[in-house]
Amino acid sequence: MNEEYDVIVLGTGLTECILSGIMSVKGKKVLHMDRNSYYGGDSASITPLEDLYKRFSLPGTPPESMGKGRDWNVDLIPKFLMANGQLVRMLLITQVTRYLDFKVIEGSFVYKKGSIYKVPSTETEALASSLMGLFEKRRFRKFLVFVANFDENDPKTMEGVDPNKTTMREVYKKFDLGQDVIDFTGHAIALYRTDDYLDQPCLDTINRIKLYSESLARYGKSPYLYPLYGLGELPQGFARLSAIYGGTYMLNKPIEEIIVENGKIVGVKSEGEIARCKQLICDPSYIMDRAKVVGKVIRVICILSHPIKNTSDSNSCQIIIPQNQVNRKHDIYVCMISYAHNVAAQGKYIAIASTTVETNDPEKEIKPALDLLEPIEQKFVSISDLYAPTDLGTDSQIFISRSYDATTHFETTCDDIKDIYKRMTGTDFDFAEMERKKNDIFGDGGDQ
Ligand SMILES: *[C@@H]1O[C@H](CO)[C@@H](O)[C@H](O)[C@H]1NC(C)=O
Ligand SMILES: *[C@@H]1O[C@H](CO)[C@@H](O)[C@H](O)[C@H]1NC(C)=O
Repeated sequence: MNEEYDVIVLGTGLTECILSGIMSVKGKKVLHMDRNSYYGGDSASITPLEDLYKRFSLPGTPPESMGKGRDWNVDLIPKFLMANGQLVRMLLITQVTRYLDFKVIEGSFVYKKGSIYKVPSTETEALASSLMGLFEKRRFRKFLVFVANFDENDPKTMEGVDPNKTTMREVYKKFDLGQDVIDFTGHAIALYRTDDYLDQPCLDTINRIKLYSESLARYGKSPYLYPLYGLGELPQGFARLSAIYGGTYMLNKPIEEIIVENGKIVGVKSEGEIARCKQLICDPSYIMDRAKVVGKVIRVICILSHPIKNTSDSNSCQIIIPQNQVNRKHDIYVCMISYAHNVAAQGKYIAIASTTVETNDPEKEIKPALDLLEPIEQKFVSISDLYAPTDLGTDSQIFISRSYDATTHFETTCDDIKDIYKRMTGTDFDFAEMERKKNDIFGDGGDQ
C-alpha cells in the first residue's frame, strides 16, 4: 500500500462505495479501506441475528423462535429505492444490477386519524379510496391530472401557475384541497419530511409527485423496490464495480492518521504504512473534527411474527405518518420487509420505524408507529447523531459524506453523491457519461 493514489476512500457505506465505483470507472486509481471487517458501515445489513443482539447489547442469544441466525440480514438504516429514482438509474448505467435481485414493495400506506390507508396516486386509485369523500376525490383527481400534464417548458399546461413563483400552498388552494389531502400528498407522495415546502415555489413538489407516479407506473403495487438479502448488497455491488475497474479494497484496516500538510490532504496512515493521495472521500466517523452534528434520528428495528394490520397482509410495505396527524414537525416512517426478501427467518417480518428527533423523549415520539406494529416480538432501539461536513474540501481536497437521514428512500443520498462529485471534479455528475446498457432492473425475465 506504499503507493500513490488519485483517491483514497475510507468507510464502505453506500455513498462511499458509489463514489469509489464512479471514480474507478472514470480511470482514477482508487484505494478503498474500512476499519470494520464487513462492508456497509452505518448502512450495513447485520448477519447473523446473534450479531444484531451483540450490537445492541441485548443480554443472551436470540430465542429458538427466531429460527436460524444465518437467515437474517437486518438493515441498520431502513430505506427503499424509488423505481424511477436516481439510485436505480445509477445501478442501471453501471450495470451493478447484475449482482442484485430486486422485489417490488407490496404497498404504500398513509396514516390518518389513527387508521392506515393505501396511498392513492393514480386517478383510478383516488376514485376508489376511502381516504376521501366524493367531492374531495373529484378535486384530487383534477389535481393529479394537472400535475401529470404539467410541463415546465410549455406554458399551455400550467393553467396560470408559475412554476418558479406560485407556492404549493396556492396550488392546493387553486384545487380547493382539504388538510388531510394536503397531508398525504405532501408527505406520502411528494415525500417531504416537514411542511416547509408549502411556501416554496411549486415546481419541486410537482416533480416529486411525478417521480412517485412514474415509479409506481413502472411495476405497479408501489413505487418502491428492495434488494433480496438486504440493503447491504448495494455497497457491495458498487465495490465490485470499483474492483473491476482496478480499485483496491481492504477491510479490517485501522486508520491511524489522516495526514494533512499546508491545509491539503497528502495521505492516510494505516498499520504503520502511509498511502499517499490527491483526494480523500470518507464518512464523518473517520474525521469528526471536520463535521458537525445537524440533528438526531431514532430508529427502532422491530421483529414481528405477523404482517402489519390493515395492509392486506402485505409481506412488505411502507407507512408514512404525516407530522400534522400526530402534532409533530417531522414525519414518522415505517419500512417493513420479511422472509420473502431473504432477510428474516421463515414467517418473520422486520419493521423499522424512524423519525427525526424533536424532544428529550424520542421513544415517546415514535410510539404512534410502534402502536401500529403490536405485538412486537423484539425491539432494537438506536438514537444516532446526524453529521454534515464543515469542510467542503475546496482547499483540503477532503470530501466528507452526510449521515443517512430519516427519509425512507435514497434520493437525498444520491443528491449528496452528486454534490460531492461536483466538488471533487468541478463538473456536474452526468449519468450519460457512465452509460453502459441494459434498461430494466429485473434484467431479462427476472422475478418481480
Ligand atoms: C383497521 O381496520 C379496522 C376496520 O376497518 C378499523 O376499525 C381500524 O381502526 C383500523 N386500524 C388501523 C390501525 O388502521
Ligand atoms: C423558471 O426559472 C428557470 C430558471 O431560472 C427558467 O429557465 C424558466 O424559464 C422559468 N420558468 C418560467 C415559466 O418562468
